[in-house]
Amino acid sequence: MPRLRKPFLVQNGGTADIEVARARGSYVYDARGRKYIDFMMGWCVGNFGWERPDLRRRIHAFRGPDYIYPGYAYKPWRELARLLVGLAPEGLTRCCRATGGSEAVELALQAAMLHTGRRKFVALEDAYHGNTLGAMSVGDGDDAVRVLSVARLKPPLDADALDRLQTRLKQRDVAAVIMEPISMNLGVLIPETEFMEGLVPLCHRFGTLLILDEVATGFGRTGKLFATEHYDVQPDMMTIAKAATGGAAGIGALLVREDLAATLEEAGNVYSTYGWHPLSVDVAIANVRWIKRNQRRLLERVDRLSAYFVERLRGMAFPEEPEIRWRGLAIAVDVRDEKYAGRVARTCRARGVLLDCQESVLLMLPALNVDRATAKAGLDMIEACL
Ligand SMILES: Cc1ncc(COP(=O)(O)O)c(C=O)c1O
Repeated sequence: MPRLRKPFLVQNGGTADIEVARARGSYVYDARGRKYIDFMMGWCVGNFGWERPDLRRRIHAFRGPDYIYPGYAYKPWRELARLLVGLAPEGLTRCCRATGGSEAVELALQAAMLHTGRRKFVALEDAYHGNTLGAMSVGDGDDAVRVLSVARLKPPLDADALDRLQTRLKQRDVAAVIMEPISMNLGVLIPETEFMEGLVPLCHRFGTLLILDEVATGFGRTGKLFATEHYDVQPDMMTIAKAATGGAAGIGALLVREDLAATLEEAGNVYSTYGWHPLSVDVAIANVRWIKRNQRRLLERVDRLSAYFVERLRGMAFPEEPEIRWRGLAIAVDVRDEKYAGRVARTCRARGVLLDCQESVLLMLPALNVDRATAKAGLDMIEACL
C-alpha cells in the first residue's frame, strides 16, 4: 500500500496509509470506500464502537457554554468528577481536569513530587505514559528528552521484582512508582497477584506513592471497569482518558486521594485552559452514565468475546507456537518473530483488518461490543493472512 504524502503534518510511524473518511461501529472506511474491520479501535479509545448514535445526538443537542475559565465553578465539572470518583477504587475521592492522558500523567507526577518532596520515580522498563517530557521520562523516551530521574523495573512482575523494587525504594528518595496495572504498551503484560498486592504496602513503607495509569486499560478493556480491579490494590492516584468519551471528544483526568488533592490545590498547578472543555464533559458524562447503567451486561459480553477470540487464535496455524496473553479484550499474540508479525499486520491491513503490531507481538483491541459475525469475519481474515 502506498504511504500517503503528508507534507505539512508531522506524524510518527509509517502506517499513515489509510485516508480515513468515516468510522462506524467496528468499521473504518477509507476515502475510496474500502471497509476495514477495526480490531484496534484507536488503541483503547473506541471501546464501544465508533460514531455512537447516543453520543452523536448529545453533541448535536449541546446548548452549554463554549468555554469555562478554570477559575469559575461549573456544575457539569462537579458532576463528572462525582461520577468518576463513584466508579474509581476506594480512597480516590477527588478529580483533576486534563485534556488527555499525557496531561493526566503529568499531573500525577507533579502531585507525587510536591507531596513527597522527592524527585525520583520508578517505572517499568520500556513503558509508555504519553508524550510530555515527564511522561516520556517515565516512559521509553529518548535519553535526550528525559527530565526526571527514573529507575526501571524489568518484568516479569513477580515476587523477585518486588524484592528488586524494595532495594530501590529503601533509599527513601522515590516519589512514586508509576505503571499500567496491566500493560497494554508492553503487549498485555500481566503482573502476578503477589506483585500487585505487595506493591502498595511496600511503597508506603518507604514513603513512596503508587500511580496506576488506566489511560489505556480504563472503561472495560480488560473485562473489569478498571484493570486495577483484577487485584486487591488501592493506588494513591489513577489516570484516565481515551475511552472516557469513546473518541467523540477529548478528555483526561487524574483521580487522587484527598490529601494529594490538598497538596495540588495549595502548592501545585492544575489550571489547564482546555481541560474538561464543556462539550467534552457533556459527552463524558453521557458515556460514563451509559457505561455505569450497562456495566454488568457489557463486561459479561467482554468475557464471552474474549473466550471466543482466544479459542480462535489458539486454533490458528502460526509457524511457531505463539504465546497468547490476554485479559478481556486486550489480546496479545507473541509470534516470536518481529518480521513475521509486521508482515502479518501489513497483510491483514491490506485485506481489511486493522491490528497493532509491537515488535513480535500482534495486539488486538477490538470494540467491547463487537458483534459475533464481525469478530468471526476479522478472525477468519487474520487466519487467512498467517
Ligand atoms: C498508558 C498510557 N498512558 C498515557 C498515554 C497518553 O495519553 P494521550 O495520548 O491521551 O496523551 C497513553 C497513550 O497511548 C497510554 O497508553
